Amino acid sequence: MQTRLQVAVQKSGRLLEGSLRLLKECGIRVDNGKDQLKASAGNFPIDILYLRNSDIPQYVEDGVADIGIIGQNTAFEKQKNIGTILPLGFSRCRLSIAVPKNTPYSGPRSLHGKRIATSYPNSLRHFLAEHQLEAEIHEISGSVEIAPNIGLADAICDLVSSGSTLFKNGLEEKEVILKSEACIVAHPQLSRQKQAILDKLVFRIEAVLKARNNKYILMNAPEEKVKDIIRILPGMKSPTVMPLAEEGWSSIHTVIEESHFWDIIDQLRAAGAQGILVVPIEKMIV
Ligand code: PRP
Repeated sequence: MQTRLQVAVQKSGRLLEGSLRLLKECGIRVDNGKDQLKASAGNFPIDILYLRNSDIPQYVEDGVADIGIIGQNTAFEKQKNIGTILPLGFSRCRLSIAVPKNTPYSGPRSLHGKRIATSYPNSLRHFLAEHQLEAEIHEISGSVEIAPNIGLADAICDLVSSGSTLFKNGLEEKEVILKSEACIVAHPQLSRQKQAILDKLVFRIEAVLKARNNKYILMNAPEEKVKDIIRILPGMKSPTVMPLAEEGWSSIHTVIEESHFWDIIDQLRAAGAQGILVVPIEKMIV
């Protein structure tokens, strides 16, 4: 029987959509019946296991799943014997401590002796130990943000993404314990065959992630400006310069990180670039 890599993803929650989209962009077709707990990819040797987020680290440690897509926050919290092998650039959030608005606060010391509600007791304990603080940890599994309002806690330690949950509940973020994004975790000892499948998967994922972060840009410029423009462009390699039908003009093509584009757009225009086009890249293999 052909070896297949068992891939655990969240069965519901903030990472599910991004995880499935990533696999799709890697050309992996998952035929997914509704409410199925397991699905097989038709054109790549992986099976998808839909599991509860907080259970995934244990399943990966036990080898029931070979790899999992979870948040770095969950990997840190669960402290299992699993390797974090690749950050995936989506579901960015942070694990933070927040207190009710207008609570006097002058740094971590203000948390000493307080009651803190959280679903992340290990991460919180780690933070408190690091700052040599004692606090009462109230572990609850959901709706952490209402704990101060109902008198259960003086502060909370929870995930923050847009910040709107904190805002709606009259809380202010005071300390960031860790920053997180989706990542791949893996069982520490995969068989050679499974490792080979994982390597192929990682190769595809890296091509997709690079493409997401980079843009193909094209612009026109009079020939005497081309050198100045090239000096501004932080491309992968030397840019392509091609003559236009109109004499004395060239077209310049290159690939740049999207974040750089906005930094240099004004410089490009000032240097004489015109008709600048920014085009998404589907896959990028370097
Ligand atoms: C998290 C967290 C907050 C919310 C913060 O819950 O517990 O409730 O997201 O996001 P925001 O800053 O964008 O408002 P999540 O939706 O992951 O579900 P959970 O309650 O199961 O943790």
